[in-house]
Amino acid sequence: MLKDRVLKALNKQINAELYSAYLYLSMSAHFEAEGLKGFGNWMRVQAQEELMHAMKIFDYVNDRGGKVKLEKVEAPPSEWKSPLHVFETTCEHEAKVTEMINDLVNLAIEEKDHATYNMLQWFVSEQVEEEASAEEIRKQLEIIGEDKKALLMIDRELAQRQFSVTTQEEFECSQKSRLK
Ligand code: FEO
Repeated sequence: MLKDRVLKALNKQINAELYSAYLYLSMSAHFEAEGLKGFGNWMRVQAQEELMHAMKIFDYVNDRGGKVKLEKVEAPPSEWKSPLHVFETTCEHEAKVTEMINDLVNLAIEEKDHATYNMLQWFVSEQVEEEASAEEIRKQLEIIGEDKKALLMIDRELAQRQFSVTTQEEFECSQKSRLK
């Protein structure tokens, strides 16, 4: 059984992950409208990953006998000044999510909830990766400045991103094991 404080914090994190999905989907729509389909694709995959993050916690709460309570998801912004501005927003957002995950870990330690602590370790590693990949693109955009040719080259590169098969399999596997 989950303690009440932990349950509330996990429900809040589900909402934060859903907001992240919403934010990145809005960024994807923004890039599509700007004709930068590769950037749009990268953000769309990012939104899929965020939805998977929310579902990971959703499943965990159910498995521990808690009840998920879904709250209203805030509307994300829809306009940004430039691709660099989008990635600055992304980096700031991911830093905030990392803080939230760290607070959750601290709470799990405080409440001596080893199972929640264990589940959160996946998110601790994931945040390192999320921050690094957004920061890498932010830096590239800073370097190219106003160079449109270079921007299109990055766009072509970002078009290659796919919702990772490993992540998808891992997700489906966790779904199947829950249905056994
Ligand atoms: Fe689910 Fe990007 O943090």
